[in-house]
Amino acid sequence: NTMDIFWPIASYLIGAVPFGFLVGRLAGIDVRAGGSGNIGATNVNRLLGKKFGVMTLILDCLKGFFPIFLAARLYAASPLETWLVPACGVLAVVGHMFPVYLGFRGGKGVATALGVFLFLSPAAVGISLLVFVATVGFTGFVSAGSLLTAALMPLWLLAVKMPMVTVLAALVIAVLIWFKHRDNIGRLRRGEEKSWKKR
Ligand code: G3P
Repeated sequence: NTMDIFWPIASYLIGAVPFGFLVGRLAGIDVRAGGSGNIGATNVNRLLGKKFGVMTLILDCLKGFFPIFLAARLYAASPLETWLVPACGVLAVVGHMFPVYLGFRGGKGVATALGVFLFLSPAAVGISLLVFVATVGFTGFVSAGSLLTAALMPLWLLAVKMPMVTVLAALVIAVLIWFKHRDNIGRLRRGEEKSWKKR
């Protein structure tokens, strides 16, 4: 089946659309040149304020949700369904992190992963949102919330009895998110991390 190859590639290409970068362009700046230099919603919010930040968050979330949502319908009758569906979700996150359109230098994958997990388990996302909001509230750093939330996601998925492939997908996404946050981890340890607030 050609779809077994086509939709995973399409998932990557959709995930790779750098909405934060495009929203920044729309507002007249290159978001890679300010704040943390990231193309994610956190940095767009930091540089351009809430309106553009929320816009980026929603668009990046949608590009995570859509590929896996369609994969579930495309592969409903396929013997490979169990693997291909979560794979399309992971590939959308990989696209955001390593976008072909921006020389493979992309974002950190949190909003896109949110879209993927919203499809897989809204319940796990609900618990995660509480953890995320509490962590960002206490520390003032979105990165701290992202790191903790990503690390705990496999556990919540286990708790709500999701299949092992789904837990594995969350593990892969968590490792990628931590890898992409390596500069943030350095700044957090040195006490130099940037606040999420506009400055
Ligand atoms: O989702 C990205 C967030 O965890 C960190 O963003 O811009 O503070 O590096 P930033």
